[in-house]
Amino acid sequence: MLPPKASTISAHGASMPAIGFGTMLLPERPVELVAHAIKSGYRLIDTARKYGTEEKVAEGIRASGIARKDLWVTTKVTEENAREADFLKSAETSLKALGLDYVDLLLVHWPQPNVPLKETLCALAKAKRQGLAKHIGVSNYTLAMLDEAVKVCPEPLITNQIEYHAYLPQDRMLAALRGHGMILTAYCPVARGELLGDPVVLAVAKVHGKTAAQVCLRWLIQQPMVAAVPRALEEAHIEQNLDVFDFVLSDDEMKNLSALRSKRVRIADPPERAPKWDVEPV
Ligand SMILES: NC(=O)c1ccc[n+]([C@@H]2O[C@H](COP(=O)([O-])OP(=O)(O)OC[C@H]3O[C@@H](n4cnc5c(N)ncnc54)[C@H](OP(=O)(O)O)[C@@H]3O)[C@@H](O)[C@H]2O)c1
Repeated sequence: MLPPKASTISAHGASMPAIGFGTMLLPERPVELVAHAIKSGYRLIDTARKYGTEEKVAEGIRASGIARKDLWVTTKVTEENAREADFLKSAETSLKALGLDYVDLLLVHWPQPNVPLKETLCALAKAKRQGLAKHIGVSNYTLAMLDEAVKVCPEPLITNQIEYHAYLPQDRMLAALRGHGMILTAYCPVARGELLGDPVVLAVAKVHGKTAAQVCLRWLIQQPMVAAVPRALEEAHIEQNLDVFDFVLSDDEMKNLSALRSKRVRIADPPERAPKWDVEPV
């Protein structure tokens, strides 16, 4: 097995790998792919109750042969379980499915407008205090929700996992997270492939002898306090996405890639659960 390749990001005592393997939508060979990711050097696996992949992640971890202490596992509680009792039950169900005593990071997956945010955040903190999770955070929170969450949560939050890639501006959110000492974990980091044919991305890739996906991921993790959880079904893509720590984008390249934000492409916007997103300046 290869040693871990991703560098780590520190937040409130946590040391989280900057690149993880996303496991939403792994329709085929999920166990093999998770095991392959770990054997390739990934040390963070991102799952969720909602994805239905926790059992497969458990099998993949076992198949990889990695020691529990060497791996970071993130899972999430759905917005249907935002009430305290449901929340804690869901976290316990996740642990059972994952075959673990604790997860490294437990997230509130989506905001729930019908339950006071404080109730959910206190349940999240309780999960940490009961030892179900080492660290806690939120996902898909807006700026106002993030501020409230930080105020009402009795334990520090280490991340807001949100959609972020070169086609979607998140400057105000990133500044807010840094202000709270938190990590922005970028999901859909290659915009589900939409960025991969972009001429600006391809031109930068050519200069560095890297692929378009590697440039998109490098652009993310080169920004302070940004991590990313790409998903891929092809083994070569899985390996490639972790191989982003041996080159550096110049200031001009970072700027040119950042300028793509004016496209404002948002991929994950489920009408039944998405909040009213902040409008970020471009
Ligand atoms: N918190 C949330 O609400 C939330 C929402 C969405 C996603 N997520 C998390 O974020 C993860 C990633 O997001 P995502 O899967 O939606 O989008 P993504 O990672 O941006 O895109 C995945 C797609 O990009 C392609 N791809 C990845 N690396 C590639 C490479 N090196 N070369 C060519 N194509 C490549 C994959 O193709 P192949 O399959 O052909 O390799 C796949 O079709 C999810 O799995 C999940 O863990 C969280």
